[in-house]
Formats: sequence, structure tokens, C-alpha cells
Amino acid sequence: MSRIQAGVLQLELADVDLPGLAGRLVEGFKLQSAQHTFELDFPADFPPALADQERLRQVLNNLISNAIKYAPDGGVIRIGGWLDAARQLLTVYVADQGIGIPSQEQEHLFQRFYRVDSSLRRKTQGAGLGLFLCKAIIEAHNGRIWVRSEPGKGSTFFFTLPLGAV
Ligand SMILES: Nc1ncnc2c1ncn2[C@@H]1O[C@H](COP(=O)(O)OP(=O)(O)O)[C@@H](O)[C@H]1O
Ligand SMILES: [Mg+2]
Repeated sequence: MSRIQAGVLQLELADVDLPGLAGRLVEGFKLQSAQHTFELDFPADFPPALADQERLRQVLNNLISNAIKYAPDGGVIRIGGWLDAARQLLTVYVADQGIGIPSQEQEHLFQRFYRVDSSLRRKTQGAGLGLFLCKAIIEAHNGRIWVRSEPGKGSTFFFTLPLGAV
């Protein structure tokens, strides 16, 4: 955390198979959460990302953990992505059918220690660091992270990674 605050997140870059990484994470989460259905949605020709595999594992792990935690009634959690070949950009998303996030809260989620005030928040544990860490990691890769969400319907978190341009 202190290294991130200092803005010196060191990345160990290699080819990362994101569909494979997501698939392995999902196998673990399936054992933890029987209420949720996990779906992977990557095209067969999704290319490897030049990225830090352990850091991207943390990002996906945080996003999937949130999807589970903030969809207490279960539902589908879909993890997918696509290549924008013209812009040489990978986009990855994690979508849930959970409680959603009011629009006025959405811009704050990625701040350190920020948690949306809700009855579920008071029941669930968290330090409000997960999305802050995700943003630091994605931005260290020269990517972007954002959310689209509707209260009561669910949330989709997206991040981009430039293809080999870190
Ligand atoms: N998938 C999601 N659905 C609804 N709210 C979410 C989701 N992911 C994150 N949030 C909201 O954003 C806040 C910040 O998330 P995060 O940084 O991971 O902290 P934590 O999970 O420790 O509370 C959460 O407290 C929650 O209010
Ligand atoms: Mg979290």
C-alpha cells in the first residue's frame, strides 16, 4: 500500500492470459459461493496482455469478491472482455446483478477508504481499499477503470489495458 501511495508500483511484465487467469479464479470462487453462477465471456482470439500477472490477479480477485459481496441474493457474475484492435486496447469487465451503486456515489468508489453507506455495507466487512488498489494497478499499466451501475439491477466494472504499450 505504501509503495502504491508513493506512486512507485513496480510492474513485472510478461504475457498474461486473462481468460485463463479469470477461469482459474472462478474455479476457486465457485467453491466459496454456491448462490452465484459464474460465466466467462471472452472471444477465442482474445490476445495476451503485456502486464503484471500477480497485480491483475489482485484486480480480478477484488472485483469478483465485490461482485459476490454486493450481490447477496446471488445471480450471475459474468467476466469477459474484448479487443479493440483499432485502438490496440483490451477491455475486461466484471458484471453482477447485485444492489448496484447510486450515480452520485460512483465517482467516489475508487477513493481510498470509501464505502457506500447502505444497510449492506454495515453488514459486510471491508476497508474500502479494494477499488483504490484496482485503480492504482490499472493506472500503473496505463489503463483506465470505471463502473456502470443501476441501483437494484447490478454493477459492471470495466478496465482497459493498452496492448503492449505499458
Ligand atoms: N459490485 C459492487 N456492487 C455494489 N457496490 C459495490 C460493488 N463494488 C464496490 N461497491 C461499493 O464500493 C465500495 C468500495 O469498494 P472496495 O474499495 O472494494 O471496498 P470494500 O469492498 O472493502 O467496501 C464498497 O464499500 C461498496 O459500497
Ligand atoms: Mg472490496
